[in-house]
Amino acid sequence: MRKKKILLFAVVLAMFMTACGSKEPGEATAEPSVSQEAEATPTPTPEATPETTEKEPEKEVVSTPAPVTEEKKEEEIIVTETLGSVLAAHNMKAGTCLSEQMLNNKKCTDFILENFNSITFENHLKPDYILDQKASKAAGDIVVKFSDATVNMLKWCADNGMAVRGHTLIWHSQTPDWIFYEGFDTKNEMVSRDVMLARMESYIRQTFELLEDMGYLEMFYAYDVVNEAWEDNGTKRNSKWLQTIGEDYLWQAFYFADKYAPDYIDLYYNDFNEQFKTETLYNFVQTLVDEDGNYLIDGVGFQAHLYTEDDLEQYFHTVERLGSTGLKVCLTELDICLGSYPIIKQPTEENLKAQGQHYYNLLNGLFALADEGKVNMDSLTYWGFVDQLSWRRERSPMLLGAAFKPKYAYYGALQMKEYAGFDE
Ligand code: GLA
Repeated sequence: MRKKKILLFAVVLAMFMTACGSKEPGEATAEPSVSQEAEATPTPTPEATPETTEKEPEKEVVSTPAPVTEEKKEEEIIVTETLGSVLAAHNMKAGTCLSEQMLNNKKCTDFILENFNSITFENHLKPDYILDQKASKAAGDIVVKFSDATVNMLKWCADNGMAVRGHTLIWHSQTPDWIFYEGFDTKNEMVSRDVMLARMESYIRQTFELLEDMGYLEMFYAYDVVNEAWEDNGTKRNSKWLQTIGEDYLWQAFYFADKYAPDYIDLYYNDFNEQFKTETLYNFVQTLVDEDGNYLIDGVGFQAHLYTEDDLEQYFHTVERLGSTGLKVCLTELDICLGSYPIIKQPTEENLKAQGQHYYNLLNGLFALADEGKVNMDSLTYWGFVDQLSWRRERSPMLLGAAFKPKYAYYGALQMKEYAGFDE
């Protein structure tokens, strides 16, 4: 167990709260760089928001920040665990998403190397990053190519012994329209089912082949084959995949992924608002079987873009219910915003404490379910770690605040209950 001392400046939480508290809802964070020393400036992810109810709503801000009145005394907190060691105790890998900004920032890479052993690229393996229109037109077939940035990230993961979750193949968002049209050109008609099925197969095959040819496939242990295909109301999202291929496109995606991915890579269906579509997901995953009734899928990814006011009992029910299918269930993009979906709360001391409690209670409950054998959960991935680089940064969802100062959330994630914002 590694020993490390971290100084918590309680006053920093209050300062952080003040810095963020005066922002208009929806405004980008007032402090774009990770810290005074750090260089990186967050670039909003293209189409960073899932196109669903998760879209930023009209925001109503109900709470006001408490004024900072007096300097609080510095308290020394001895941290003997890392985010990784806490999860390893329950046989789970500890993951984070990785962006170019993080990779170019030593504070970020140091934090990642200290805490995580699993990486999901925030963007660099998404369809719009790896599908090449010019090459596809020239080849007359869909062509997968990795940019230098993607290759750099793969290399960094390999050099640092990271396990990687591939993210993501079939998705309605961050997917170029041209792949659905004759001649790979949106000026033309959309292609037939047969043509699109052939393109889907080629795309999935090439992705795994390219990773293998480059020597990177072995570090992959999971792959999100399909992302966000279901609406909360239990209907299929109306994507171009559905329009061209038809109702069975999800089954086809898993069929091809199963055909081309090596067995050691677990194939996942990944979605958000999982707790509101429990039965939809429960029924759906059981349709992903081959002619012998064997699963084509290995796991269900819960994005876990949560809120401090979410009902955790409901969440645990969803975990247990999907766990009862025998598939793995993993949290793949965990972050916990202040408040609720329609009502953002400001980072006041009280709200940040509630967030610390929520991280603590969530992980604690998941560990209980996993340890009791109610769910097979082999990894948990945070969607980042520092607020300023989070796609939901105006909602303060992560474990570290300004200048990488630990929040109550960090201690909650570390299961250090006494520092996680619970009242004494
Ligand atoms: C969804 C996607 C992620 C990412 C986030 C925003 O959750 O699955 O890849 O785009 O939205 O960062």
